[in-house]
Amino acid sequence: MGTRVLLRRVRADDEGRFLELAAASAELHRSWVALPRSAKEFAAYLARFDQASAVGMVVCLRDGGDLAGMVNINEIVRGSYQRGVLGYAAFLPHAGRGYMTEGVALAVRYAFDRLGLHRVEADIQPGNVDSVRLVERLGFRREGFSPAYIKIEGTWRDHERWALTNES
Ligand SMILES: CC(C)(COP(=O)(O)OP(=O)(O)OC[C@H]1O[C@@H](n2cnc3c(N)ncnc32)[C@H](O)[C@@H]1OP(=O)(O)O)[C@@H](O)C(=O)NCCC(=O)NCCS
Repeated sequence: MGTRVLLRRVRADDEGRFLELAAASAELHRSWVALPRSAKEFAAYLARFDQASAVGMVVCLRDGGDLAGMVNINEIVRGSYQRGVLGYAAFLPHAGRGYMTEGVALAVRYAFDRLGLHRVEADIQPGNVDSVRLVERLGFRREGFSPAYIKIEGTWRDHERWALTNES
């Protein structure tokens, strides 16, 4: 739990509010992130989170409980890697108030302390300055650049590769 937000697993009864906020935030999310747009897509989204290879969470306001955004730890690989890849997005009207910085920081602590991961990564498209600023605030470093790395909304998109390792 943070000072203003808490992180919890996304669940079936989030469907209505999650879809409403994702739709209201479509312009903010643009082609940076693709979230479910229907009940069917939300069910498929939830089904991805098997808690072993992926954990899906929402950032909730401690004051009132509304969803300020989402953070997932995807592509978890164990063995010699012990890493996961973060996906995150703010929901309007709660963006730009520091909630997501707090929520993603909690997700990083969860990945390191509870899941025992050694590395968390964030793949960010060039020009997504808000996302870069967020991970920079949390101490991530830019490790590289992968052309045509992830297919989002039908297009293979270049990504910068940002990462943080747990050295504690
Ligand atoms: C990237 C994204 C999640 C950032 O969310 P956000 O809500 O803007 O994040 P925050 O509110 O934590 O931080 C934004 C700003 O608010 C500021 N802020 C405002 N009030 C604040 C407060 N009370 N406390 C702390 N920070 C505050 C932060 O300092 C930060 O400033 P800066 O980035 O101008 O330096 C959001 O822009 C988004 O959803 N983008 C589209 C999806 C996306 O790109 N996802 C990532 C794909 S890689």
